[in-house]
Amino acid sequence: MTRHLLRDDDLTHAEQDEILDLAIALKKDRWKLKTLEGPQTVAVIFDKSSTRTRVSFAVGIADLGGSPLIISTANSQLGGKETPADTARVLERQVAAIVWRTYAQAGLEQMAEGTRVPVINALSDDFHPCQLLADLLTIKEHKGELKGLTLAFFGDGKSNMAHSYVLAGVTAGMHVRVASPETYAPRDDVIADADRRAAETGGSVTLYTDANEAAAGADVVVTDTWVSMGKEEEKLERLRDLGGYKVTQELMALAQDDAIFIHCLPADRGYEVDAEVIDGPQSVVWDEAENRLHAQKALLVWLLRQD
Ligand code: CP
Ligand code: NVA
Repeated sequence: MTRHLLRDDDLTHAEQDEILDLAIALKKDRWKLKTLEGPQTVAVIFDKSSTRTRVSFAVGIADLGGSPLIISTANSQLGGKETPADTARVLERQVAAIVWRTYAQAGLEQMAEGTRVPVINALSDDFHPCQLLADLLTIKEHKGELKGLTLAFFGDGKSNMAHSYVLAGVTAGMHVRVASPETYAPRDDVIADADRRAAETGGSVTLYTDANEAAAGADVVVTDTWVSMGKEEEKLERLRDLGGYKVTQELMALAQDDAIFIHCLPADRGYEVDAEVIDGPQSVVWDEAENRLHAQKALLVWLLRQD
């Protein structure tokens, strides 16, 4: 059966583990697998801007022996005249997989429904599961075992990143804390799904409005932009509402002494994180950015093996 990665809990704990182990092996030996030899093409479609996702998929697909076909939605029929389902029917006859960065999660679901090739969410308004595989790989490299670690997220709890930390974190058996104003708390249905998954893995998710309480004793401190793509018109309101959730040196001092700081990037220094934190010794953001490559290669190999 064709498998897709549309949201983080599409993978079980064991599957997530398998992909992370493969990512570690591929990082050690970058050209170990030429799974896409044929050559095969992977379509990578962007409705929104990107640096890391575009580069890491293009390089990763080439590493695996395939050819990336980067499509900008603005220059395609998708989003204008053609539906995601019809686009998928055309693409599936020519490409090995479809990677799509878009707005609505529903579009990804339509793209994946009945499609014979894997569809990968390269960021939607709701989730960013590829980033999470890279983040878990980074945490594993710096902290060892994921299960039992405490990860604290600060800021926009309704953002794609917060939702993905909640779902992927509990899937890994981590204790995920989200600190945000009440009106920016993660969506109820995401929390309910995370609670169900946490019951299987021993993880947990806890919501806070007090940033200091959420930071206390955390192993991993994380934030994301306060103004996600598509939210630009709310910028002033968001800067005002989220000001109390900035990751500062003082906040980092409440976490474990050996806590690491991660951020998916791009970052707005001085807003969601101070420069001294993101550019300081506890920050592992450049490892994290590199790990997009290794994690996504592993994901592609794994998904194409499921057919
Ligand atoms: N973190 C991330 O997805 O970065 P890009 O927007 O540059 O792809
Ligand atoms: N939450 C951010 C993540 C960017 C990689 C956004 O959607 O813009």
